[in-house]
Amino acid sequence: FHIPFPKNEPVLSYAPGSLERAQLKAELERQSNTTIEIPLIIGGKEIYTGRTGKIVMPHDHGHVLATYHKAGPEETKMAIEAALEAKKDWANMSWIDKASIFLKAAELLSTKYRHLVNAATMLGQGKNVYQAEIDAACESIDYLRYNPYFASLINQWEPVSSSDSFNRMDYRPLEGFVFAVSPFNFTAIALNLATAPALMGNVVVWKPASTAVLSNYYLMQLYKEAGLPDGVINFVPGSGPDISNVVFNDPYFAGLHFTGSTSTFDGFWKTIVEHMDTYKTYPRIVGETGGKDFVVAHPSADPKALITALIRGAFEYQGQKCSAASRAYIPQSLWKEIKQELVDQTESILMGDVRDFRNFVNAVIDEAAFDKIMGYIEKAKNSNVAKIIAGGQGDKTKGYFIRPTIIETQDPHFVTMEEEIFGPVLTVYVYEDNQYEEILQLCNETSPYGLTGSIFANDRKAINKAYEVLRFAAGNFYINDKPTGAVVGQQPFGGARRSGTNDKAGSPFNLLRWISPRTIKENF
Ligand code: ALA
Repeated sequence: FHIPFPKNEPVLSYAPGSLERAQLKAELERQSNTTIEIPLIIGGKEIYTGRTGKIVMPHDHGHVLATYHKAGPEETKMAIEAALEAKKDWANMSWIDKASIFLKAAELLSTKYRHLVNAATMLGQGKNVYQAEIDAACESIDYLRYNPYFASLINQWEPVSSSDSFNRMDYRPLEGFVFAVSPFNFTAIALNLATAPALMGNVVVWKPASTAVLSNYYLMQLYKEAGLPDGVINFVPGSGPDISNVVFNDPYFAGLHFTGSTSTFDGFWKTIVEHMDTYKTYPRIVGETGGKDFVVAHPSADPKALITALIRGAFEYQGQKCSAASRAYIPQSLWKEIKQELVDQTESILMGDVRDFRNFVNAVIDEAAFDKIMGYIEKAKNSNVAKIIAGGQGDKTKGYFIRPTIIETQDPHFVTMEEEIFGPVLTVYVYEDNQYEEILQLCNETSPYGLTGSIFANDRKAINKAYEVLRFAAGNFYINDKPTGAVVGQQPFGGARRSGTNDKAGSPFNLLRWISPRTIKENF
């Protein structure tokens, strides 16, 4: 039985005069002029707890887009019960039927839901049109098409039988429920965290990031319309500890599918270990966390390609990507050639409201993010080994705006070369041209993370050396490209070290974590 090999969803251009542009503009207008109320969704039922939070536009934080209800311990228990109840049918449904539901969701998201989810991602999470389209539309659709294809490969793998014994596999889901905890920065990641385990027969308690509840709520509507049975994915926004304390105390907690900060993941892991005696099964712990992603240029690098990669890698979506280029190592000769152009291009970046499609950057997600990022910029301003050569300004009066910022440092261990900032800040360390190999070693040892990184070179020996020295420094390693923008099915995504468990979203490897196969031998 074959699911046709999927194609990646084409990226719409939203060119002036296009139909898609007019439709998206109309949806942005509609969402900007309404304030919706978002319930929890547990076992298919809408629950209004009366304890609420607000979704505001990051570029205009006085503007409330939605009020959402928050789950507490009681609703979390209800969500677990609803999930386990739904599991009775869901776990026994054929994989083909389950795949069909998600393939249908892909079609609905490609058509009817595209502008709804894109507009919510733009307004609520502060993405420009292109960043929303490649995330909320294309990457989400790709997960919904590729994962069923990968699931078909997994579900049809059979062991060898002999003349007197018949061997087969029963691809069971995990015994219990999966807890999905998703970040604000990618609507597609939120989609994958809940749907990948569900596709493999699991039921899910899903806690979305508070700042992404609007787009994530529309995903719940999408799943329902595609035919996902009630209770398979339960939507419980709210404060982290209220929800996780209940989840991690439950005997049927069987898996964590997480993307977020390293410190939250560490905390979860420790709590899970503390409660190990409670569980019926060893929980699967799958997490993608932080990064301090590098760009290393060799003197043979193409200057133009390097500038583009630095700007796009560091500043797209305001640098709020775990994969964002945030530290660059550039040889003296090349730096002389590109510095002015890099600074000029950075200074000319347009910033503002997401509804003006000319803006390349928008606001950062919230006040806490703004203050943290500005704190790092202040450190550079006050340092005598670092200098701000572009940007550096921030203003949170109306929206959380920070100009794309480049710091040049003489200290390869300066704090902004080492710590994850999660904002539009790139730090450059300039090295002597003959120190390339030392720089590769330094790059490898500077950060505890291991998520993404790029090497820019035209000299094959230099590429090979980077490939070798930086083997564990990045789970996604790019040669002459920016370190962001992995495409589902093309660049399976994830890193090791302090960046996570490297279970490669967008590949069969991730789906394998969500099954607990039974081997059956029958003698004749
Ligand atoms: N998967 C995202 C990227 O590659 C985070 O940029």
